[in-house]
Amino acid sequence: MADISSLARQTNDLDAFWLPFTPNRAFKRAPRLIAGAKDLHYFTPDGRAVLDGLAGLWCTNAGHNRDPIVAAIQRQAAELDYSPAFHFAHPKSFELASRVAALAPADLNRVFFCNSGSEAIDTALKIALAYHNVRGEGARTRLIGRERGYHGVGFGGISVGGIVNNRKFFGTLLAGVDHLPATYSREHQAFTKGEPQWGAHLADELERIVALHGASTIAAVIVEPMAGSTGVLPPPKGYLARLRTICDRHGILLIFDEVITGFGRLGHAFAAERYGVTPDLLCFAKGITSGAVPMGGVIARENVYDAFMRGPEHAIELFHGYTYSAHPLACAAGLASLDLYRDEGLFERAKSLESRYADAAMTLKGLPGVLDIRTVGLAAGVDLASRPDAVGERGYEAMERAFHDEDLVIRITGDTLAIAPPLIVSEGQIGEIFAKVGRVIGAVM
Ligand SMILES: Cc1ncc(COP(=O)(O)O)c(C=O)c1O
Repeated sequence: MADISSLARQTNDLDAFWLPFTPNRAFKRAPRLIAGAKDLHYFTPDGRAVLDGLAGLWCTNAGHNRDPIVAAIQRQAAELDYSPAFHFAHPKSFELASRVAALAPADLNRVFFCNSGSEAIDTALKIALAYHNVRGEGARTRLIGRERGYHGVGFGGISVGGIVNNRKFFGTLLAGVDHLPATYSREHQAFTKGEPQWGAHLADELERIVALHGASTIAAVIVEPMAGSTGVLPPPKGYLARLRTICDRHGILLIFDEVITGFGRLGHAFAAERYGVTPDLLCFAKGITSGAVPMGGVIARENVYDAFMRGPEHAIELFHGYTYSAHPLACAAGLASLDLYRDEGLFERAKSLESRYADAAMTLKGLPGVLDIRTVGLAAGVDLASRPDAVGERGYEAMERAFHDEDLVIRITGDTLAIAPPLIVSEGQIGEIFAKVGRVIGAVM
């Protein structure tokens, strides 16, 4: 039998955990450990308070360990730990679906639950394919994504996604996928606050793709209203409306991936509302539970749902679902989160802080090596010049230094920094965060 000290060593051994989307060897040489959190701060095992400049991973929109959410999860765990969502349901799943539907614009009224953003994307793509199938248009099998898009890590999501490293290691992916061009041009858009003026015409590339493949073969187009993971790319003014028009013209479903933009990040419940464009399917995750319990989902317009409601009533209409769809703990956390967002006016708060946030981010303009800054809602992306022959090294060092030297968590994609704190951030903390980022940039140049 192992003695106590070797057991302690084992439980603290860093070898066994294969960290996702992380350089494991570098991490294990100098781990960044987080042991607790409250509101806008993490706490390290040695008690250091670290500012969360990324709302967890774009998810803890109400801040960390909020008492009402914690209490709701605790109560739910004691009352009903689990019940299946296939053929059975618990009351909170209906309550949460109704609340989400009420937040969504127009007739986006039918909510399918899953457990993550990646599952939400696969769910939406499958619903789109099946929708055409049940209506007798089974030849509509093509899916259109966008370069630089991030739609999670399932095979569907990486197929329509447009980030090379998420795709190139994983074989041939889904067949019959095409991509719109990314909406970013530094030449035309550098240092824009909010939606850039230039770029709406890039939506017309969809017409080119339709002309190439034929509309009758295309099921759906999927885009993030604001591309988050690639480094915060707000949509050009008018771009999303133009996509909507072209999709309508050709009977193509439009899917918004609102995994990041949902639940307040852009100052609205959903970006669809901010931009006045209603997709046919809307994917959400992350902020639905303020990150406290995994959950994702897809909101469908009524006509999409109705298309499935045919055939004998004992027969399943959509052969899709997850063991943990509408998990009771997630539903409880979701309801408590939506209450908090409403009671504290957090979406409106994000909106009212937007220009202050953009100004604070733009104070970094002019620092050596800062090539561009983009902002929208409470999100900012900062492009740093790459070191010669070492793309991503400067960004990685910035993230390390932010944590160890500045007590700040930020996100990196290559040499781009992303900053998107919980929506409870104060004006003072916004200034503090960007002052820290400024010092970090100075240190890595
Ligand atoms: C736009 C978007 N879609 C999908 C996902 C995938 O979500 P998850 O990591 O929960 O699978 C993410 C995650 O960051 C995302 O930003």
